[in-house]
Amino acid sequence: MELFENPDALPVFSGGGEEAGIFLVDTHCHIDGAEYDRDRDEMIARAGRAGVRLLVNMGDSLESSRRSVKLAARYKNVYTGVGVHPEEAFPFTQADDDRLAAWAGETRVVAVGEIGLDYYWEKDQDRRQLQRDIFVRQLALARDLNLPVCIHDREAHGDLLKILQTEGKENRGVVHCFSGSLEMARELLKLGWYLGVDGPVTYKNAKKGLEVLREIPLDRLLLETDSPYLTPHPYRGRRNEPGLVRLVAEKTAELREISLAELAEQTTRNARDIYGLDK
Ligand code: NI
Repeated sequence: MELFENPDALPVFSGGGEEAGIFLVDTHCHIDGAEYDRDRDEMIARAGRAGVRLLVNMGDSLESSRRSVKLAARYKNVYTGVGVHPEEAFPFTQADDDRLAAWAGETRVVAVGEIGLDYYWEKDQDRRQLQRDIFVRQLALARDLNLPVCIHDREAHGDLLKILQTEGKENRGVVHCFSGSLEMARELLKLGWYLGVDGPVTYKNAKKGLEVLREIPLDRLLLETDSPYLTPHPYRGRRNEPGLVRLVAEKTAELREISLAELAEQTTRNARDIYGLDK
């Protein structure tokens, strides 16, 4: 993936960022990996200049959760979730629960995530059952720790909803990069969930996503990049980075016919509320 190393290739934001008082949060990124080792400090500074002041990095395996906890200890504006993503599913033991629980006590650890179900990549029925098992187990852990969860759901809408209506009905948190129907969005909102919006809303084929995005109450909306994935237009195909959540914010503000400042204020309040940032 091409990096933003050439200053001419850097995104230019017409309304200014930090100096214009914009305060955004990228509530879901994965910047603990090697693809950012060359320019992590500069990239976080670049996000700040675009008005993206706080980041929530999500672990997706035990290894990346470990890295993510270190990242949050190093950067004052980086928070983290710890958890095991469905694509990394393995049979959990009590020791794994204990490992995640111990990390939850560290500085700026604010969620159990990224956890969930992925039936797009996983077609095997036994492996899908394993995904459900470790998902339910991590939901229970989050309740024990009194932490919100960050959920990944790809083509597993029916099973996800079923679990959140039963085992997960006492959990709270975010369904990240929401890709379900309007009916499902309404059901999740009724259950108290927040919904995350990402780069795909800037794509030309985003029609269905935009219909749903129009209907999500502003006080339940979170902005995310999912960096290094899901890079917004016009940088699609390159490595994503947290500063580009600004493009997701601009597109969402335009769609909702409100100012960027208003959208930023509300979504930042949401991020603070659900993830307890600055606590
Ligand atoms: Ni993610």
